[in-house]
Amino acid sequence: MSASERITLIQPDDWHLHVRDAPYIASVLPATLRCYRRAIIMPNLHPPVTTVAAAAAYRARIMSAVPAGIDFEPLMTLYLSDSFDVAEIRRAKESGFVHAVKLYPKGIAHKAQPGVSDIEVTFPTLEAMEKHAFPLLVHAESTDNNVDPFDREAKFVETTLGRIISRFPGLRVVVEHISTREAVDFVLAAGFNVAATVTPQHLLLNRGALFESGIRPHHYCIPLLKREEHRRAVLKAITSGSRKFFLGTDSAPHAKHLKESACGCPGIYSAHASLELYAMAFEDAHAIHHLEAFASLNGPDFYRLPRNTSTVTLEKKCWKLPAEIQYGDGEILIPLFADRTLPWRLAT
Ligand code: DOR
Ligand code: ZN
Ligand code: ZN
Repeated sequence: MSASERITLIQPDDWHLHVRDAPYIASVLPATLRCYRRAIIMPNLHPPVTTVAAAAAYRARIMSAVPAGIDFEPLMTLYLSDSFDVAEIRRAKESGFVHAVKLYPKGIAHKAQPGVSDIEVTFPTLEAMEKHAFPLLVHAESTDNNVDPFDREAKFVETTLGRIISRFPGLRVVVEHISTREAVDFVLAAGFNVAATVTPQHLLLNRGALFESGIRPHHYCIPLLKREEHRRAVLKAITSGSRKFFLGTDSAPHAKHLKESACGCPGIYSAHASLELYAMAFEDAHAIHHLEAFASLNGPDFYRLPRNTSTVTLEKKCWKLPAEIQYGDGEILIPLFADRTLPWRLAT
């Protein structure tokens, strides 16, 4: 096998991951353990993880699904809402296992979900986070129903992100799962305290994938897939050599019956093959040499955590993805690129 058919990388981390709760954790976590050493765990459970005590209990449930001998570290997060207790920031900083706070605008996925209704309400918390150098992770989409669903990220970038950064210039912010040229431009223009994660689907698919010979619920996530020009802008950003973009799969499992429904859930499950999917995107852009920084270096550097010392190897070796995956007690998941053949595979 020639050098171009084998790539060895410092072991990557996933800086944006949903593993849900028992009994689902055990179905999805092995896919992450297969290749990542750490993962930022999203706090949007029902009810959400809003305290360090709840994060400790959730972390223990996750660790009970990690087999002995596997070196994996879940990096926990807290869910910001209008009623968030500022005192949690100091506790979080002292905990050593909570690494960030996630901001979801109120009602982003469904109306009843808690979240932030007015950014100003969170200012005391953001001030404490700035003081403690604690990262804010942002689901950067407007929830204004008058804003077209495909424009919600650009709108939030325009109206809200700039306000947060100018009010708290030292706050460390990750714009999660960016999907537009506007978000790319914002991150590139901001200081080193602003970075972004990118999912495999926003690199590999444009919004045409939602309507390929019919409606495609397994390509539905938020932020929505966008026009091809936006996909290209995001791809260009991550293959430019900028240190501000890093891997965050946003692997977000929902059972098949909840996606194939008259009112289906947003979320794409990609953990089963995410590193291979990213490799495909980088190779298509003739930039596979930028994969390691994106997957393994930029994230820990931003989070001020040590880079991993172990390595993983990808091989040019076709493999067929499963058509479906068992999920919890008798449910099914349809993974991204189900039943399709990928060119890269993680060596075992
Ligand atoms: O598509 C999405 N699914 N976007 C999110 O921000 C949340 C996620 C989920 O938790 O299912
Ligand atoms: Zn999100
Ligand atoms: Zn997410």
